[in-house]
Amino acid sequence: GKVAVLMGGSSAEREVSLMSGGGVLNALRARGVDAHAFDPAHADMGELKRHGYARCFIALHGRHGEDGTVQGALELLGIPYTGPGVMASAIAMDKVMTKRIWRFEGLPTPDWRLVASSAETARAFAELGAPMIVKPSREGSTLGLTKVTSIGQCEQAYLLAARYDPEVLCEQFIDGIETTCPVLGQGAAAEALPVIRIEAPDGNYDYQNKYFSDATQYHCPSGLPEDEERELRRLVVEAFRTLGCRGWARADIMLRRSDRKPFLLEINTSPGMTGHSLVPMAARAAGISYEELCLRILADASL
Ligand code: DAL
Ligand code: MG
Repeated sequence: GKVAVLMGGSSAEREVSLMSGGGVLNALRARGVDAHAFDPAHADMGELKRHGYARCFIALHGRHGEDGTVQGALELLGIPYTGPGVMASAIAMDKVMTKRIWRFEGLPTPDWRLVASSAETARAFAELGAPMIVKPSREGSTLGLTKVTSIGQCEQAYLLAARYDPEVLCEQFIDGIETTCPVLGQGAAAEALPVIRIEAPDGNYDYQNKYFSDATQYHCPSGLPEDEERELRRLVVEAFRTLGCRGWARADIMLRRSDRKPFLLEINTSPGMTGHSLVPMAARAAGISYEELCLRILADASL
């Protein structure tokens, strides 16, 4: 049947989603899938039903796309969709909720404070120490993020993050190796793809360096010792299953320089599929082409 590739949307990551969706759309069509672009920012979700779509590939990022709302609409419409369901999507979009669950389940994640003012941000800085990451709890692509190294930066960092989300997360900065690792499948069949090690210019893997810079270096295979690679893969599958994810997702992990201890930062339940994106890169290292990857994600679409 017909497949809708949901792309665009109204979040701050709209631009990224259009790039992801364009790639997915081309790949599915190249493999003979009757796929069409559908932008929820310009159409009513109910039209999916009226147009007879049998399945949806969600290539939306951020609010109203990755956060369980679109997933909930598709549940009501009875149209199977890719990626995690309503609850896992909603939790994963919220970095604070995610961290609470991981911490409760004994999975490693950096210490944090949830703050609601500049003053609370300054207090968090005093408690967590420098450097500290200040970021919106529910946002993606490092939008609204500041690495704070002095107390004087706290106010601006808070105000910037709060522009994206009133819930602002202060998190201990882990000095180390930046890695990311996708997971495909579900339940006992969930498996990690190879780990990617990221080397951004000045260690600054921000929006620009994520999507537009060629200066960021990606290593996949990661070049990490085999036991570390294995441990990271085990950890991301556990992180994925702990949140109740299914289909696919990509977890970001810092490997602390001093003792090589891994720290989970977040899990993205609708990861980027752009030309610069990481899940396709890890898949390629595992011998799975971009087109094959799209077909595999689509095959796991469910309600
Ligand atoms: N939020 C972006 C799209 C990602 O995680 O890939
Ligand atoms: Mg993210």
